[in-house]
Amino acid sequence: MAISDRELIDIAKKAMENAYAPYSNFRVGAALLTKSGKVFTGVNVENSSYGLTMCAERVAVFKAVSEGERDFIKIAIVSSGGEKTYPCGACRQVLYEFSDSIEIILEDRGKIFKTDLKKLFPEGFRLKK
Ligand code: THU
Repeated sequence: MAISDRELIDIAKKAMENAYAPYSNFRVGAALLTKSGKVFTGVNVENSSYGLTMCAERVAVFKAVSEGERDFIKIAIVSSGGEKTYPCGACRQVLYEFSDSIEIILEDRGKIFKTDLKKLFPEGFRLKK
């Protein structure tokens, strides 16, 4: 059975418990659904050298790609802020590499909100393969 947006958000929330964000105290969780039905989670991982911090979305994408999965259907993103947390520009570009139209599921004070990369990141950068 297909995984619902609510289920994906709940998986992202569970993952968020593992966020490592001692500097910003802003925890982020992501859950990425692939075409094969697998879900890859990610959390933000901060560093004492702040610029080395990695976003939750990119952790999820890199985990998936490193496991041989590149076909992405949707990604759920949640944060400890509780309001809609859009992917940052760098994460949009990284998602764009694999799908220019991936669905993006957010939560705003308990309510599901849907958008997609076509809307958030039109005309991204891409090299010819
Ligand atoms: N962060 C993410 O994990 N994803 C985003 O799309 C935006 C920002 C993290 C990075 C940092 O650990 C914290 O949120 C505050 O910027």
